[in-house]
Amino acid sequence: MTPKSIVVILLGPPGCGKGTQARELSRAFGFVHLSTGDMLRSTAAEDSELGRAVRATMDAGTLVSDDLICRSVAERIAPADLEKGLVLDGFPRTLEQGRFLTAALGNQRVFALNLQVSHTLLLRRILGRLTCPDCGESYNLFFRVPRREGVCDLDGAQLKRRADDDEAIIRQRLAVHEKETQPLVEYFRGMNILEDIHADEDAVTLSAQLHERLRVAMEPVNGQARRK
Ligand code: AP5
Repeated sequence: MTPKSIVVILLGPPGCGKGTQARELSRAFGFVHLSTGDMLRSTAAEDSELGRAVRATMDAGTLVSDDLICRSVAERIAPADLEKGLVLDGFPRTLEQGRFLTAALGNQRVFALNLQVSHTLLLRRILGRLTCPDCGESYNLFFRVPRREGVCDLDGAQLKRRADDDEAIIRQRLAVHEKETQPLVEYFRGMNILEDIHADEDAVTLSAQLHERLRVAMEPVNGQARRK
């Protein structure tokens, strides 16, 4: 196992900053970034029976089946990704997915960061979000305004709002998180692989905090990696 071969799981409600921090960690540490939301959005864009079913599920603010997402993730992760280090954004998010992942990873080092953000901030972050359809960069009308209105700073593409960033759907997504993901948080806490992070701070302050936690988690202890 190389010092970098760690699987970082970002947990937290919609809008807490999982995608933003996952992209940053991937740039800073060279980790492979896997976002199940992005995977499913590309499936949802397909004109197929599966595409239509996934789109309907996402538009309703509910979760696709554990079976579908676990199979898709297992197909996507290559052994080389684990060597480089992997940051999981949006997976697992149910107890069943968590059990599947920990069984599949065996004794691979796993570190879960549970990003906690106040409710009012979550709504502003989601309602203000704009995303680049080409490179996936994320902006925000309140917190990270693009240099030119409606245009990606990196590649000039027209920024888009996500179809599920609608207030009624957001409330449903938050309720689903509370019901389905909280038990997973407690499961990881019981395994002593989870750390709660107060994530109300701006993205730069937060990423500095995450870097620090990760450096500690990646330090070897008596030749072995730390559990947390
Ligand atoms: P997914 O795409 O994973 O959505 P989500 O979990 O609801 O999370 P978001 O992407 O909304 O938020 P985020 O935490 O990534 O925040 P972000 O960094 O973008 O999933 C979508 C759907 O796919 C699900 O509802 C479900 O249907 C399905 N799905 C996905 N995974 C699944 C699974 N495992 N099982 C079953 N179904 C699954 O930030 C939000 C905004 O805030 C941005 O504008 C950003 O610029 C801004 N921002 C970020 N951090 C900060 C900060 N610190 N300060 C100020 N602004 C910030």
